[in-house]
Formats: sequence, C-alpha cells, structure tokens
Amino acid sequence: MSAFILNLETIEAALNTKSLGRCTSQPNELWEEIDSTNSRALTLARESPAKVGNNNDQKYENDGFFILARKQNLGRGRLGRQWQSPKDAGIAFSLLLRPRLSAEHLGLITIAAGVAAACAIEKELGLKIGLKWVNDLVYEGRKLGGILAEMSGGALVIGIGLNLRFKEEEIPEDLKGKIEWLERLNLAPVNPNSLVATLVGELERVWHLLKDGQTENICRLWRDYSVTLGEEIIASSGTVSYKGKALDIDKDGALIIETTEGNCHRLHAGEISIRKADGSYG
Ligand code: BTN
Repeated sequence: MSAFILNLETIEAALNTKSLGRCTSQPNELWEEIDSTNSRALTLARESPAKVGNNNDQKYENDGFFILARKQNLGRGRLGRQWQSPKDAGIAFSLLLRPRLSAEHLGLITIAAGVAAACAIEKELGLKIGLKWVNDLVYEGRKLGGILAEMSGGALVIGIGLNLRFKEEEIPEDLKGKIEWLERLNLAPVNPNSLVATLVGELERVWHLLKDGQTENICRLWRDYSVTLGEEIIASSGTVSYKGKALDIDKDGALIIETTEGNCHRLHAGEISIRKADGSYG
C-alpha cells in the first residue's frame, strides 16, 4: 500500500480530534469512485435525520462523519460549476455537521473552512497558500482548491477539494495555466492521509470558534491568508457587478467593497476577479 494514496484506516489512526471523524453511528467512508462526496453526504443526511438528546443539547446520530473519494465523476463546484477529480489527482472531502445555524451563515462557514484548509496545508507542508474570497484556495493566482458548503434541512455539508497531483494531459484546456497542485509546490510527494487527518483537526478547531460565536477570531485568521484585501477587484453577484477595492470582511463573511465611485457595498454571495500586474482581472 502506498503512503501517497488515500487510506481510511491510516487517516483514522492519525486523527487528533475529540469528535469530528469519530461518529459512532455513521462510519467515515472512502470511495474508489463516486459521483460527488457532497451529494453522498447530503443523501446520508436525508436518510438519517433522527435526533437524539434534548433541545438544549442538540445532537444528531450521524453528526461529524466524513466522506472521501479517490475519484469523482460529477464533482460539483460553486455556482453550478464542475469540479475535476481524476483518480488520485486530488483530495475530495466532505464533512457532515448539524449546526444550529441557518443558510445565511454559509458565507462565514466557507470562510472558516478555507482557514482550516490553509492552516492544515501550512502545518503539513510548511506552505502558505492564499485565500481568495469567498471559497478559493490559491497560490500565485492559480487555483489550488475550493470549498463548497451546502445546507439541506438541518444538515450542513462542507465540501473541500484540494489539487494534489495533476498530469498535464488530465487538465482540461480551459484550466491550463490556471490551476495549481500541492506536489508541484512541495517538489516532493505529499501524503494525503496525514493531510486529511490534519485538515479534520483544523476543521474541529474552527468549528468550535464558530459555535462559540468567535467570528472575529475566524475573520482575523482569514485576513492572515487573504490575497483579496487591499486589491482592486471586480465583484459580481447575479446580474450586479462592482468595480473597486476589497476593504475587509465582516462578521458574516461578507466582503466589504469600496467602489470606484466611493460607495461601500457588502457582498454576501458571488465571486470576484482580482486585478493583475498587467491590468487584466482574473
Ligand atoms: C469550488 O471551487 O467551486 C468548490 C469546489 C469544491 C469541490 C469539492 S470536492 C469534494 C466535494 N464534493 C463535491 O462534489 N464538491 C466538493
């Protein structure tokens, strides 16, 4: 068995968490091949909605398990996009939680998950990646990974895709030169099992901050990895778009923008392009 291929036993043995990944009623799963790990987690959430405990101590039978896959056939990204997951080229990870939070908190949850992923990569590989609002993990302008947080009923699924190793021929034409992967940056093989175990630990840490209402701490951590703040951007949300400067994020995870006309806007959803040195946006 190669240390560089996902293996559930190895991950579980390396877990350093109190609750995440230690669900007694629902085992963590590793699929050789699946449509989408997020879809699988949402299906399991729908199939097992039973609550245990009382209202003050909301606990659900299958809270805190994760799903992994070596390959996804219908990996999903934000805004209805596809996520490429060729076999062993990346980490496709989804975590199911049952928070007392509503869909309006998805922005902050995405911010928190980005922080967890960035911290895990830094701990494991000593590599400081960048966070581009709202869900992109980047390195020098190239996309290294992304977050897709989804809610259905009371279930929250945090999906994280990380590029690990891509062969040139696996990269679709439209993504050539736009994506990055960890082994290219690390200049050596990356052990995905150790990385996933650390990621689950970091998710537990930010999850506690979220539950304790420590939103400013989450924002502070995000600012440290941000490649967004202070930059000239074009932000779009649905049919609306703004050109201006990214000033900060607020406690909801919204991006605060000062437009070129001097108005301030809070962007709760959507995406941004950052102005590059040559004046183009991407
Ligand atoms: C994005 O950048 O748009 C988000 C990408 C999220 C991809 C991950 S891979 C694991 C999980 N399962 C999915 O189908 N999507 C997420």
